[in-house]
Amino acid sequence: MRDTITTVTLNAAIDKTYFVPALVKGTVMRATEVLSMAGGKGVNVARVLHQLGHPDVVATGFAAGHNGRYLVDRIRESGIGADFVVANGESRLCLNFIDGVDDSSTEVLEPGPEVEAEHLAALKNKIGGLAERSAVVVLSGSLPRGAPPSLYAELIELVRAAGALPFLDASGAPLALGLSAMPAFIKPNEEEILKLLAGNGDGDLDLREGALALARQGIRNVVVTLGGEGAAAFVDGVAYRVAIPKLKAVNTVGCGDAFVAGYAYGSSRGWSAEACLRHAAAAGCANALSAVAGDVKKDDFDMLLPRISIGEWLK
Ligand SMILES: Nc1ncnc2c1ncn2[C@@H]1O[C@H](COP(=O)(O)OP(=O)(O)OP(=O)(O)O)[C@@H](O)[C@H]1O
Ligand SMILES: [Mg+2]
Repeated sequence: MRDTITTVTLNAAIDKTYFVPALVKGTVMRATEVLSMAGGKGVNVARVLHQLGHPDVVATGFAAGHNGRYLVDRIRESGIGADFVVANGESRLCLNFIDGVDDSSTEVLEPGPEVEAEHLAALKNKIGGLAERSAVVVLSGSLPRGAPPSLYAELIELVRAAGALPFLDASGAPLALGLSAMPAFIKPNEEEILKLLAGNGDGDLDLREGALALARQGIRNVVVTLGGEGAAAFVDGVAYRVAIPKLKAVNTVGCGDAFVAGYAYGSSRGWSAEACLRHAAAAGCANALSAVAGDVKKDDFDMLLPRISIGEWLK
């Protein structure tokens, strides 16, 4: 059996959160607390897989400069493998300022490094090698500058050829183009699937019909996540509706990443659709209870798992 789950983050980031008493433009503010985390969607997926107890998780992608080395160190410290391709420049910093007056969040996201042909070739080589020993390879998030929009399609082909299940969690053109390579799993949220259907000229389909159309193209696991309303899915042609408990969410950023991690956990073990969906939804919900994006506390997860119910997605 293949034990590894690989996650791919092509625009990894150091996520910095600054808590300031009051955010006032044009002034000097002193932070009362600073959090620094390895981030980017695939890194979040890797962290949650590790928290769920998956023993062999490897994060890959591009890491550049000092920031890239810091990212790799932080990932390894947390018990996850890090095997990144070194790119030029600096991996990005993503800054989030939390205003103590109203708890509002103000973000500044760097664009990240631009990659060149040699880095893309090295990436394909790296992912091909990791896929040979992986059950699942999760491709998440936006593409770096310099990458062709069809990159995910190329990586999906490569992952499948190496015998692993390619999972894709992207939006816009990288998602639309990635679908042509038939990923094993996609997880658009409502906004992402509606945009995709509109782009396909299927804008008049409702969510269920749209998901079914994608499933009919040959994508075995089509899941639409619906935030606080749970999720719905077509898996091997069967329609499922996932109901979740009402929660007082603390921070819903990264809920989708946690959901993907839960699903990959189940798929890598050959679990049924119901079991994968239940694990995924409990992980997504548990993430909503943490202040940090891509963070699942085991106690929250264990409390939530029996409260997820799976039924039929009715017309
Ligand atoms: N407010 C919430 N309360 C409870 N559970 C939630 C909430 N928001 C999200 N979840 C859980 O997380 C899952 C994924 O959420 P969502 O649809 O918001 O993903 P997303 O938009 O892809 O998120 P992101 O891209 O920020 O990671 C949901 O199916 C649900 O299980
Ligand atoms: Mg998402």
